[in-house]
Amino acid sequence: MNTKEYGYFDDAKREYVITNPRTPFPWINYLGNEDFFGLISNTGGGYNFYKDAKFRRITRYRYNSVPMDSVGRYFYIVDGAAVWNPGWKPCKTELDSYECRHGLNYTRITGAKNKVRASVLYFVPLGVKAEIQRLTLTNLSDDIKRLKLFSYAEWCLWNAATDGENFQRNLSTGEVEVERVNELTNERVNGWTAIYHKTEYKERRNHYAYYAVNCPVDGYDTDRESFVGLYNDLNEPQAVLAGHSTDSLAHGWSPIASHYIEVELAPGESRDFIFVLGYEENEEANKFAKDLSTFNVQLSTSLGERDHHIINKVRAHEVIERFATVEAVEAAFAELNALWDELLSKYRLESSDERLNRMVNIWNQYQCMITFCMSRSASFFESGVGRGMGFRDSNQDLVGFVHQIPSRARQRIIDIASTQFPDGGCYHQYQPLTKRGNNDIGGGFNDDPMWLIFGTTAYIRETGDFSILDEMVPWDNEPGTEVSLMEHLRISFDHVVKNVGPHGLPLIGRADWNDCLNLNCFSMDPNESFQTTGNKTEGSKAESLMIAGLFVYCGRQFVDLVESGKLSVERSSQVDSRKLREEIEKMCKAVEQYGWDGEWYLRAYDYYGNKVGSHENEEGKIFIESQGWCGMARIGAEKGMPEKALDSAAKLLDSEHGMVLNYPAYTTYHIELGEQSTYPAGYKENGGIFCHNNPWVIIAQTEAGRGNDAWALYKKIAPAWIADQDLHKVEPYVYCQMVAGKEAARPGEGKNSWLTGTAAWNWLTVSQHILGIRPTYEGLMVNPCIPSDLKEYTVTRKWRDAEYVITVKNPNGKQRPDQPTVLPYTPGRHEVEIVL
Ligand code: GLC
Ligand code: GLC
Repeated sequence: MNTKEYGYFDDAKREYVITNPRTPFPWINYLGNEDFFGLISNTGGGYNFYKDAKFRRITRYRYNSVPMDSVGRYFYIVDGAAVWNPGWKPCKTELDSYECRHGLNYTRITGAKNKVRASVLYFVPLGVKAEIQRLTLTNLSDDIKRLKLFSYAEWCLWNAATDGENFQRNLSTGEVEVERVNELTNERVNGWTAIYHKTEYKERRNHYAYYAVNCPVDGYDTDRESFVGLYNDLNEPQAVLAGHSTDSLAHGWSPIASHYIEVELAPGESRDFIFVLGYEENEEANKFAKDLSTFNVQLSTSLGERDHHIINKVRAHEVIERFATVEAVEAAFAELNALWDELLSKYRLESSDERLNRMVNIWNQYQCMITFCMSRSASFFESGVGRGMGFRDSNQDLVGFVHQIPSRARQRIIDIASTQFPDGGCYHQYQPLTKRGNNDIGGGFNDDPMWLIFGTTAYIRETGDFSILDEMVPWDNEPGTEVSLMEHLRISFDHVVKNVGPHGLPLIGRADWNDCLNLNCFSMDPNESFQTTGNKTEGSKAESLMIAGLFVYCGRQFVDLVESGKLSVERSSQVDSRKLREEIEKMCKAVEQYGWDGEWYLRAYDYYGNKVGSHENEEGKIFIESQGWCGMARIGAEKGMPEKALDSAAKLLDSEHGMVLNYPAYTTYHIELGEQSTYPAGYKENGGIFCHNNPWVIIAQTEAGRGNDAWALYKKIAPAWIADQDLHKVEPYVYCQMVAGKEAARPGEGKNSWLTGTAAWNWLTVSQHILGIRPTYEGLMVNPCIPSDLKEYTVTRKWRDAEYVITVKNPNGKQRPDQPTVLPYTPGRHEVEIVL
């Protein structure tokens, strides 16, 4: 099968167009980019949440369901004997045409059947806590069409974790209200119908959700069994088959929201319905309605006459009224598109390579926004209940996003730093809703502190905002413990210095970047998680070469900051940069002396002090992380170590689809290595192509001046170059975390799409290291490292209050310039030409 079977890129519209609903896996998109979010697949599957996919899940999703992806926000259309959905599912009635356009924070799904076309535009307007679904029905025939339209959304009982387990309670608590407004409420709004979800609203929750349509309806359902039928599937809801809904009111069980509308369309006529799926919060004192008499409303509630807890709906009404017209929806949609014009104008590439342009100008930057918003919480592989915001993950994500909206990156840095402990250690994750460290996973990952330096220095280079270092930031969110962010950075650096092992290399703790290299865990109990169980650090000799490289690389970024000459006296006196340099030097020596295996960098020493990632090992002889990080940091450069390591990586780790994490993969469980050796060979951290770490090697290649090699590896993992969509399986427009490695059963098969540090790292790689436009404290550095056959390109870079139009020319087929150029920062527009 070739690319054409499932879809294509429409770069002019910044969309990926799916033309066949039977994609090899659901291909999804994200709606919303601030607080209210939706995940939506190419057939309408997915769910919504507010801020936190665990604690404020609005609609329900059943992960790993049969068939795959079987709950969503669906529309059913009944046209005579035909029952169909615009997105093909769940009815799977064969459509006459189907198209799904995934754009930047919106999705448009269009289906046609028997000369009726239904097109649904899904998006979240800026600053609004609701998803808009604009459904346009068009009669393409010469006859009058009498259609029946049903909407469907299934409520989640807020906490997505307990929603999926505590049925003895959940099946009794569900409560709803239905509000039918059948007349003019102002000159624009001619009634609406809203279904409210208010489970637990009367007691401890001050929030509710609603699903409204901008017209009177012919019926509704709020009880799943009444609508679907106990023994039916979503492809044959009994209300739809019967041709009318039942006006059911949910009393516990499973509350849903479904509107039923009879539609008559003249030949050629089109009609729009605007559905609003929203969420609101009320103040405690104001949560219940006092007076219903403002307009003619018909209200039904689960509890009926005895309901003393009618929701105060003022806020929902504002949103419903605001989006009652097509014009209002179009204006909000235009605003969203304008935001993306603006965001993508910060870095624009013009080159003769269409695929490179596509990655740089659209999809890589878009994915960076999504990973910034979601961390690793909610995707079709991340259930939204397991992980919140990761300390290391979020620091990396923000580096891919900081040029888009620096103020949000700033806030994120403060939030992350606030979960740090006074000794520099960190909570590994925190919940976005509470911003509190997550006790279930705790801390002890010894790479975490360095990532704070990585994220903060990137922010300052982008913005020139040194004042962030003055921010007073608590330890572990404890009021009264605030110290400057600068102090957090100092202590982060020290945390590594103070935690070195017998070879002077960093102790690994629970794990470093590789969550599954658990050298102090020794787990034999299948019921415990490798990340949270016993951490035998007492007496452990387990050291990490990955942290060593990270420390040297990010440590130097810290030195550059301290020596930038731009810190206040107070800040610069907090840190002695000579001392920092000494520590970095010491670490380099330790790596050269104890971290070099002859042809490549070792990966680690285990608990007992035995080598990991050495030619002496039978399996796992070489690992990618240390080649990447020590190579980026150019440790042992005088001895040619980075180059040798890169050659070894090319020889042993590389494959058609990218570089694998380790080779050979482990085929047996090594209790002293932990989770890594539990994965079947070729998957995940055991010999999978873990896309996140390929960019480290690419950057190391650029540091070594190897532009051709860097480019070759860049293309292997970049979505725009995916040749076989069936093999790759997951979305062809975004990076995935892992592609099955050369020792796997199906090398090249992708998994865990969307939420991965791969997005930010590839952005950094291509924008700053290959194309070579890099913000520094002194100015904008231009230091490309490109394939020799790339003859020319232009980057327009908006940086702080300046705009640089930089044309790089390469008439002689070089891979990099003799010297980097640094363009001083001066506000205004500058045109520059650089010849290699
Ligand atoms: C996952 C985690 C990330 C970790 C990586 C390697 O992507 O989110 O924190 O570094 O796996 O284990
Ligand atoms: C698993 C995954 C790893 C991830 C970790 C997070 O170990 O393999 O990729 O980082 O879980 O807890």
